Amino acid sequence: MQQKTVLVAGASGYLGRYAVKEFSERGYRVRALVRNPDSLRAPGPNLEPAIAGIADELVQGDATDPASLKDVCRGVDIVFSCMGLTKPQDNVTNEAVDHLGNLALLRDAEECGVRKFVYVSVFNAELMADVEVVEAHERFVRDLKASGMPYAVIRPTGFFSDMGMFFSMVRSGHMFLLGDGTNRINPIHGADLATVCVNAAEGTEEEVPVGGPDTYTFQETVDMAFEALGKKPWTTHLPVWIGEAALFMAGFVNKSIANVLAFALTVNTIDNVAPAAGTRHLKDFYRELVAKQG
Ligand SMILES: NC(=O)c1ccc[n+]([C@@H]2O[C@H](COP(=O)([O-])OP(=O)(O)OC[C@H]3O[C@@H](n4cnc5c(N)ncnc54)[C@H](OP(=O)(O)O)[C@@H]3O)[C@@H](O)[C@H]2O)c1
Repeated sequence: MQQKTVLVAGASGYLGRYAVKEFSERGYRVRALVRNPDSLRAPGPNLEPAIAGIADELVQGDATDPASLKDVCRGVDIVFSCMGLTKPQDNVTNEAVDHLGNLALLRDAEECGVRKFVYVSVFNAELMADVEVVEAHERFVRDLKASGMPYAVIRPTGFFSDMGMFFSMVRSGHMFLLGDGTNRINPIHGADLATVCVNAAEGTEEEVPVGGPDTYTFQETVDMAFEALGKKPWTTHLPVWIGEAALFMAGFVNKSIANVLAFALTVNTIDNVAPAAGTRHLKDFYRELVAKQG
């Protein structure tokens, strides 16, 4: 059978690196779409692998410059995109990256005769319809469904990398948590999620909600981080209105920060428990972070 080629957009990110590795291990020829090829030489901050030697081909492109995405899908069978704006960037919007950048990629995929487009959006999108980060993803999902291109939309809960951000805060010895910490989540490791993503690329499911194997309250994820670091748990719970006030103020100062804050605020105050997959546990991830970073 002829080897299939996959384009991984967002290949330098947390999920993207695991996706490159998983597609490669399953025998695909992998073309990685990145902004900065040098970034692939070292592992990422949350233990995600270096993939410079794993991807077969690198192409450079920027979602905010649709012309740079022209022809990146030439010769490609499947596009897998986890290209998204997850950290605030000056003068860059979620609309520009998550919606219009992916739309430019979809148009190129159509022109190049790609057979399937797999896209990573978010779980519980319908509960967060007024959150711009989520809406930008969903505007693209609507375009993808309308295009007639065979597709799968992956809808994950939080990634371990997001829990890694909690871990960095806990390292200081003190954690501020919005709300009472009783809302629940089943976060997923990037490698487990990559397995689900490649299964979806090869399967027929069009909507794939997914989380990790264990469900915790937010407070438990924080307490586990304190334990892994050998620190006495010390959490201050902030009322949700403080987050909302910060969000209101951020809206005047920097729209990009406000969008990310609005997403974090919503995710921190609802239950995020999706159908479970994977075998990797948050406790082990925290232990590995301690072993690698001290
Ligand atoms: N993290 C979570 O808990 C979570 C949960 C549900 C869904 N998601 C979604 O899943 C996707 C992947 O998340 P992640 O945590 O792996 O994110 P990540 O680590 O921040 O990776 C995002 C990827 O998108 C690329 N990117 C950003 N702006 C770009 C631009 N203008 N042009 C080209 N590439 C650009 C980044 O490239 P650079 O390396 O050059 O910045 C990176 O490769 C995102 O769309 C996110 O919204 C995340």
